[in-house]
Amino acid sequence: MGKDVVEDMAAYYVQRAATYERVYFKPERQADLRTMEAALPAEFAGRDVLEIACGTGWWTPYAAHDAASWLATDLNPETMTIARAKALPACVRFATVDAYTLDAPEADGPFTAAASGGAPSFDAAFAGCWWSHVPLQRLPGWLALLHTRLAPGARVVFLDNSYVQTSSTPISRSDAAGNTYQQRLLPDGSVHEVLKNFPTREQALALLGPRARDACWVDCTHYWLLSYALR
Ligand SMILES: C[S@@+](CC[C@H](N)C(=O)[O-])C[C@H]1O[C@@H](n2cnc3c(N)ncnc32)[C@H](O)[C@@H]1O
Repeated sequence: MGKDVVEDMAAYYVQRAATYERVYFKPERQADLRTMEAALPAEFAGRDVLEIACGTGWWTPYAAHDAASWLATDLNPETMTIARAKALPACVRFATVDAYTLDAPEADGPFTAAASGGAPSFDAAFAGCWWSHVPLQRLPGWLALLHTRLAPGARVVFLDNSYVQTSSTPISRSDAAGNTYQQRLLPDGSVHEVLKNFPTREQALALLGPRARDACWVDCTHYWLLSYALR
């Protein structure tokens, strides 16, 4: 299970790329957005960071501000084209990477070191609005994969949406595994069913696995942020 849902999600974001950032202009989310943007730089100061599913790079300018190096990755070049056009810290590079394999792009230094048995050179990872799209049954395996790409002691930060009845797209159904889905409308009139989960603090912490320590969950109204260190 999960393969079609995962592929559909990736295709949906190609179609949505040009209009994706409208979601960041919802008036009711502005205060939370400023809080999240302000919290990010300190998480990654001086670190070599792998960003997963960077999309149009909304968070990248803030989060990468004080990083030593920052590799922003996404499966879809269409979203990264928008991110690349932004004013970004000099440490930011981009690569097309499937988050479900986290395989090295050709000739990419950090991944190559890990793939060849050397020490992973990322000492931090960040993913914005990605956790919510990973099928629940794949989350433990996906977190374990991510952790193999990171050095001991690495910092990991996830940021994602909280469900707010007056602001979020309604949940249209749930499946046997507990995943929830939304029917999303794009400006061209097409409707897409997208898997979107809204974990509680307890559910998220329970999924982290044995390598995570010192987990911290911050709840805003529209967003949550989870950070932890690897053993
Ligand atoms: C909700 S958007 C998040 C974008 C950005 N991080 C943000 O918070 O605004 C999800 C992103 O996941 C990307 N994506 C979908 N499937 C992927 C995969 N298998 N590997 C990497 N990225 C993927 C999409 O292209 C899209 O940019």
